[in-house]
Amino acid sequence: MNNFLVLKKIETIDEAMILRNIRNQCREFMTRDTSYISEEQQKRWFVNIKPDYKIFLLYSVELGLISSPIGYGLIRDEGDFSLISGGLVESERGKGYGSILFNYLIKNVTNKNIKLEVLKSNTRAFVIYNNLGFRVVNDDGELITMEYNYDSPI
Ligand SMILES: CC(C)(COP(=O)(O)OP(=O)(O)OC[C@H]1O[C@@H](n2cnc3c(N)ncnc32)[C@H](O)[C@@H]1OP(=O)(O)O)[C@@H](O)C(=O)NCCC(=O)NCCS
Repeated sequence: MNNFLVLKKIETIDEAMILRNIRNQCREFMTRDTSYISEEQQKRWFVNIKPDYKIFLLYSVELGLISSPIGYGLIRDEGDFSLISGGLVESERGKGYGSILFNYLIKNVTNKNIKLEVLKSNTRAFVIYNNLGFRVVNDDGELITMEYNYDSPI
């Protein structure tokens, strides 16, 4: 890979709209709400966003030039733990960027107890979480909950 990826915190409504677009491309893989998010809903969500959320866009940089956003990441502080999630635009999947995205999210959490949820059918996501050191703490047959294991070598 001769390029690298950067994660940038979302600050503007335009960036929140880009997140909406990427998240809508990922919605079939979402574990809680798979509905399509309208512009209006996204605006409302963004202006009312609570401080327990950290939201990011992922860009690739090649020869000093920044790409259009290729993914997004969310960190939500749930009190006892941080819940992380994210996804890539369709055209950038299958290139190894997912594990870089989630590794960056792990580095950006403040609450060090990290959890995530993944559909059992989402093998690609499960493989990267497992490789990054997440371990299964619950499996109901459809939905798997995983927790970050700090004893992992990564
Ligand atoms: C999930 C996602 C982030 C993964 O990122 P990615 O860059 O596309 O992942 P990769 O294609 O590099 O694959 C990750 C791993 O899964 C493996 N893999 C891919 N398809 C596989 C399959 N069908 N069976 C087994 N392993 C598979 C790859 O070999 C790779 O493993 P490796 O790193 O050990 O080689 C990305 O595909 C995505 O955004 N998907 C839609 C949204 C989503 O699912 N978000 C997560 C919600 S929990």
